[in-house]
Amino acid sequence: MTHAVIGYGRLARALVPALRAAGETVVVGRRAPGAGELLPADAARAADWVWLTVPDDHIAATAAALPWRAGQLALHCSGATPLATLAPAPAAAGFHPLKLLAGDAGLAGVHVGIEADAAHRPALQALAQALGLRPLDLPWPMPAQARAAYHAAANLAASGVLAVLAEAQALWASAGLAPAEALPALAPLSRGALDTALARGLAGAVSGPIARGDVGVLTRHLDALAAAGLDADLLRALAWRQLALAEAGGRLDAQQIAALRACLAAR
Ligand SMILES: NC(=O)c1ccc[n+]([C@@H]2O[C@H](COP(=O)([O-])OP(=O)(O)OC[C@H]3O[C@@H](n4cnc5c(N)ncnc54)[C@H](OP(=O)(O)O)[C@@H]3O)[C@@H](O)[C@H]2O)c1
Repeated sequence: MTHAVIGYGRLARALVPALRAAGETVVVGRRAPGAGELLPADAARAADWVWLTVPDDHIAATAAALPWRAGQLALHCSGATPLATLAPAPAAAGFHPLKLLAGDAGLAGVHVGIEADAAHRPALQALAQALGLRPLDLPWPMPAQARAAYHAAANLAASGVLAVLAEAQALWASAGLAPAEALPALAPLSRGALDTALARGLAGAVSGPIARGDVGVLTRHLDALAAAGLDADLLRALAWRQLALAEAGGRLDAQQIAALRACLAAR
């Protein structure tokens, strides 16, 4: 079987070497092909499976411009884009690695959301395993609301964490500490919390003043934001979620929970 990978960006630069390392035959289709590469239509003609690894907004137009024939499968790697965008192809599937790819990272070790009919799902699961990915079955067909929720969850887990760190950086700077040190000093705390959560679950990993029922420290945190002129909405919203986790973990007694709730509600 031959794969065509159309659009050689961040995702393709991880996918193509992984496919080749797994023994698959791959042709690369690009708008301006270099040595050993083809134009998208020529790559698609040569392939059984055609991967559209172009920006999400251009998947539909790229699929519409390719010369499809019976027996081919079109694939995209987007968690957010409906398979209907691949409608000109005789069959379509989604293969969505749950990983942020910056250019040099491989794919192995992460989950991959697979959206495929019964005829194609087993082959995609087998390919995922051959690439060192962990197949994650998505519903078929995937309702629009489920797709949006799935993609929002993935985005929250990746870039949402970055937004939290940006807030932490702002607080760090308000304390007069060197901004350049903020990320190197704070990011290992995130990594440690994630490692603990993977080992013990979220409720077992939550730590800090809320998990200890320490209302005095929580009050000083909120005061520090106000003094720095920073918006406390995010810290407060996250504090409520931490309180729910600490409660779920059985870490707090009724009196501590009531005191923390009163502190947060008063702000
Ligand atoms: N990057 C990630 O972390 C990641 C993770 C999971 C899933 N994905 C999914 O993977 C797909 C590709 O994302 P990416 O991050 O690899 O994108 P990307 O780095 O922006 O690369 C996309 C490639 O598509 C081609 N392209 C650019 N503009 C185009 C246009 N107007 N029309 C047709 N082709 C165009 C270009 O390749 P040529 O110059 O070779 O034509 C470009 O290198 C998306 O569906 C994305 O949601 C990405």
